[in-house]
Amino acid sequence: MPRWAYVNGRYVRHRDAAVHVEDRGYQFADGVYEVCQVVGGHPVDERRHLDRLERSLSEIEIDMPMSRAAFSAIQRELVRRNRIRDGLVYMQVTRGVAPRDHVFPSASVRPALVMTAKSIDMGVGERVAKSGIAVITVPENRWPRVDIKSVGLLPNVLAREEAKRAGAREAWFVDRDGFVTEGAATNAWIVTMDGVIVTRPAEFGILRGITRTVVLEVAERLGLAVEERAFTPDEAKAAREAFITAATQIVMPVVRIDGETVANGEPGSVAIELRKHFFDVAEISIF
Ligand code: PDD
Repeated sequence: MPRWAYVNGRYVRHRDAAVHVEDRGYQFADGVYEVCQVVGGHPVDERRHLDRLERSLSEIEIDMPMSRAAFSAIQRELVRRNRIRDGLVYMQVTRGVAPRDHVFPSASVRPALVMTAKSIDMGVGERVAKSGIAVITVPENRWPRVDIKSVGLLPNVLAREEAKRAGAREAWFVDRDGFVTEGAATNAWIVTMDGVIVTRPAEFGILRGITRTVVLEVAERLGLAVEERAFTPDEAKAAREAFITAATQIVMPVVRIDGETVANGEPGSVAIELRKHFFDVAEISIF
C-alpha cells in the first residue's frame, strides 16, 4: 500500500514528497513542528498540539498557513489514506520558499506546510516500558528559546546519537547550574524517596510538553504529590524512580542514568501507574 504525505496543498506519494531547495526550513531551520500521536485511528490531544503550534508560529512571526479546522481535516485525511490505527502525525510549517536571505521574505511569501503520518506498533513501546530505558546526561548547548518547537534540532540530534552510542535511548541536557533541563525529545521526571513527583517548571529551559501537561493532570487525579522544580543528575540517580514523557513514548520508565542503576533497576510503580491512566485525561478526537 502506498504511503501518502501532504505537501503545500497536495496529497502526494510519500516517496515523491519533496520541498523546494530554497524552503527556509531547509536552509535556515526557519520553521516549527508538532508530533501528534494517533490511537485507534484518532489523533490524541490535537487541540493542545494545535494550540502549541499556533504559539510557536506566533513567537517567530509566521502566520498560521490555514485554519485549525483545515489542519484537522488534513490530519484526518492522512490518517485515512495511510490506514493508520496507531501511529504518529508529523506537521511542519516553515516561513516558505524565497531566495536565500536571512531577513524575512516579503509578506507575499506564504508559509509552507508539510504533513506526514506513519504507523507504529504500540506493542513495542509497551515491551520497552516493561524493562525501562537508559539515559545519559550531556551539557546543555541549545539556544534559550526551547519553548518554541523549532525544527532547528542539531544539538538534540547530536545528543540522541551520543546516547545511542552509549547504549542509551535518551540524553538529558544539564544546564550550567547543574540541573537537568529535559531530554533530546522528551521531558524528564523523577520520583523522590518520599514519593513526590518532580519535574522542571516549563517557564524556562524546556519545551512545555503536551504529554507533560496531561501527566500532571493524571497525577493530580490520582492524588499523587507533584513538585515543579529542577533536579540534578545526582538526585535523579538516587531517586526512587525516573521517567520521561513525550507523544512518542507516553510515559517511559528510566532505569539507568549514566550507567548507574536507579533504585532496583526496575520500572517504578508511579511511572507504570501514570502510563496506565494517561488516556483517562488525554483527549481523543473522534471523527
Ligand atoms: N518531541 N522536549 C523536547 C525537546 C521535545 O522535542 C519533545 C517532543 C518533548 C515532549 O513534548 P510532547 O509531550 O508534546 O511530545 C519535550 C517530539 C515527540 C519529537 O521531536 O519527535
